[in-house]
Amino acid sequence: MKNLTAEAATAQKYLNDVVGDIEKNLELHLPKDSIRPQRLHEAMRYSMFAGGKRLRPVLAYTAWEAFGGQGEDIWLLTSALEMLHTFSLIHDDLPCMDDDDFRRGIPTAHKKYGEATAILGGDALCILAFELLARTGNAEIVRMVAKSLGTSGMIGGQIVDIESEGQQVELETVDYIHYHKTAALIEASLVAGALLAGATAEQIKPIHDYGNAIGLAFQVVDDILDIEQTTEQLGKDAGSDVEKGKATYPAVLGVETSKQKVLELYNESLVALETSSAQTDVLKSIAAYIITRVN
Ligand code: IPE
Ligand code: IPE
Ligand code: MG
Ligand code: MG
Ligand code: MG
Repeated sequence: MKNLTAEAATAQKYLNDVVGDIEKNLELHLPKDSIRPQRLHEAMRYSMFAGGKRLRPVLAYTAWEAFGGQGEDIWLLTSALEMLHTFSLIHDDLPCMDDDDFRRGIPTAHKKYGEATAILGGDALCILAFELLARTGNAEIVRMVAKSLGTSGMIGGQIVDIESEGQQVELETVDYIHYHKTAALIEASLVAGALLAGATAEQIKPIHDYGNAIGLAFQVVDDILDIEQTTEQLGKDAGSDVEKGKATYPAVLGVETSKQKVLELYNESLVALETSSAQTDVLKSIAAYIITRVN
């Protein structure tokens, strides 16, 4: 655990360095709230700049850098990924979904702006993200990111998550939910960064497998934090999963076994990186950060 904490601190330092550029480019790519439709632009910015760990853009940047990426298009990719993630959060919090009141330390988008503006703001972030991805001129990135969000990706996971509320489900169903609603975009962020740097399919395979393992670990940790942390610490409604009878790892396996699973997935992610030809030290630290994070 002590080693893990030291590794995680290394990642945190790297994150802090990269996040400044990520934020700067988000600011650049989002429409100004002085431009019509002002209130919609304001709502988009409200959710985007409320905070957030910026993990998906950081992963894309790290994979891109590991494969020697060059040029400015990386900032189109990082901006698009954070917009896509934030779109998924705005919709996830809606009354018809998880019905949550807090996100990133402030009231959720629908609480602040009403449901119509929250839904349209989320839609607009998703659509703007694809405009930015298209500007990279890399059709494989556009295709692959789209796939990670559709019915065989994030949306597939979200619908089974909703349908499973209050049901007794098997671990296999929880795995389906978690791999799709969360791991898919995390994995796609890494692969997109590698693709943008010109990595080959063979070079990408270990990074993809790392993303798959650490993506699932990320959601299992999210499930555990929902139980063990406070709303203040998380910046979002703690205890929300139990209240809604969500299909989570702790609900099926208990907290202790879920923590064991997180460690197994962490080890799996490191094994995947062993076969990589790229410089993967930062990805290793980020894995430690993901499993030791407290919000
Ligand atoms: C929350 O994601 C939603 C999940 C997939 C569990 P994050 O924990 O990355 O949220 P932010 O971006 O830091 O707010
Ligand atoms: C949400 O999972 C995953 C997506 C937003 C796609 P959760 O519903 O567990 O995320 P939180 O806990 O609200 O952030
Ligand atoms: Mg949800
Ligand atoms: Mg939720
Ligand atoms: Mg959660």
